[in-house]
Amino acid sequence: MLNIAVLISGSGTNLQTIIDGCKNNEINGKIKIVISNNKEAYGLTRAKNNNIKAVYEKDETKIIELLKKENIDLIVLAGYLKIVTKNFVNEFKNKIINIHPSLIPSFCGKGYYGEIVHQKVLEYGVKITGATVHFVDEGADTGPVIIQKSVIVKDNDTLETLKKRVLHVEHEILKEAVKLFCDKKLKLKGRRVFINE
Ligand code: GRF
Repeated sequence: MLNIAVLISGSGTNLQTIIDGCKNNEINGKIKIVISNNKEAYGLTRAKNNNIKAVYEKDETKIIELLKKENIDLIVLAGYLKIVTKNFVNEFKNKIINIHPSLIPSFCGKGYYGEIVHQKVLEYGVKITGATVHFVDEGADTGPVIIQKSVIVKDNDTLETLKKRVLHVEHEILKEAVKLFCDKKLKLKGRRVFINE
């Protein structure tokens, strides 16, 4: 069973998906710690409600110490609105994954996070969007893609209706990616990720 850490900044619905996946043994892992750079993040309450160590910490050096102390095998960035440094990536090489609410490489990178992504999707007028789980490298949303799933943009979509449908897909593919990582079924070759069935 792998030790998981989840880094959040907001409500934590993606975190809740992983909590539930561990609880019902779909995920062969244990969430040892939840860390937020936002004191008000509701995700910290979700962690406490499930007896998971919940920490408010903004300093990256202290976050690295916390993660090492917990012998973390997998770090999940789940609505973590801060770009991690080169040093952080190197400390946990190929052990960090992120969920992004678009089909990377579209609508991603610096400045593209949360609702802004859906706003840009609607403004641009694309017909298909979706979500992506990827390994984290030294760039913003540039790491090797693990899983993607598409979402049709409807003519009558608003920011709220689109965000809701994409979030549903986020929960689905994030749980699957964490499950595959914990089952050691992900093989990284260069930029390509292969899933060993
Ligand atoms: C998600 O859409 C995530 O992709 C984005 O922020 C949102 C956070 O949702 N980065 P939650 O906090 O997991 O509910």
